[in-house]
Amino acid sequence: MKIVVIGSINMDYSLKVKKLPEKGETILADSFYTAPGGKGANQAVAAKRLGAEVNMIGALGKDSIGKELRKKLDKEGVITSGIKSVGTPTGNAMITVDNTGSNTIVVYPGANGEMNEDWLWKNINIIEEADYIILQLEIPIKTVIVAIKLAKRFNRKIILNPAPAQVLPEEMFKGIHIMTPNETELAVITGTKDIKEGAKWLLNKGVNSVIVTLGDKGCYFKSKDQEIQMEPYKVDSIDSTAAGDSFNAAVAVALCEGKPLDKALQYANAVGALTTTQLGAMEALPYRDEVEEFQKM
Ligand code: RIB
Repeated sequence: MKIVVIGSINMDYSLKVKKLPEKGETILADSFYTAPGGKGANQAVAAKRLGAEVNMIGALGKDSIGKELRKKLDKEGVITSGIKSVGTPTGNAMITVDNTGSNTIVVYPGANGEMNEDWLWKNINIIEEADYIILQLEIPIKTVIVAIKLAKRFNRKIILNPAPAQVLPEEMFKGIHIMTPNETELAVITGTKDIKEGAKWLLNKGVNSVIVTLGDKGCYFKSKDQEIQMEPYKVDSIDSTAAGDSFNAAVAVALCEGKPLDKALQYANAVGALTTTQLGAMEALPYRDEVEEFQKM
């Protein structure tokens, strides 16, 4: 089971606050923590912890943070030969998390912005061997488009997690196996807040199937001939950071393993929910045995 993640790697600077600040408001934080993150890196580590063989294609700065993050990914067992070191500083994210576990995230892409077509071609053998390729939008959109083209050339399955959301060019939709927006992202991309309408809009554009992640309301799946509303697992959430990332990784792992669709969605809901019970991004990602235990409860 080979999963390739093409995407971002960041250092996260997180503040735990009672409530998220209003525009123009200054507030005091209760705690501050620094931890590895980045949607791409979180997805890679999540898939590895769930039992997949994972290659990551990405970019880090040559700075000490870049070295620290590479070491972390190596330690987790993610194959990092597809991660280049560049002169631009490593990407980072400023995160605030409130009492309910909800967050706001601002990403400075830094080295992630150096991910280009050439680097994909240099790693074409990794792409060619993937069972599933997971992409997000914290690297240049031009590179994501080329990655989709290359994946399609080799008939590889693509999961596109369209975060951070933006209006997407027409050429991006066709051939995507699964697109996984949350409600906000779906609205930005499709122009409608209606989940069913938004999912239909994406299918009409050529996406094979859509999973809308709904936070503590579970998830909604739609393809041409199937529709599933999957109920959530109830947990005490303290930080939702990286829950979407682990959800995406879990979908890829479960489908790679041949789980039926409803079981795959259930599994991904469990993985996402568990992620919210710990502080931070990468550190909060659950291991395979923890998820199995949790699902038995
Ligand atoms: O999805 C969570 C991630 O988004 C954080 O780790 C942060 O780095 C941003 O990429």
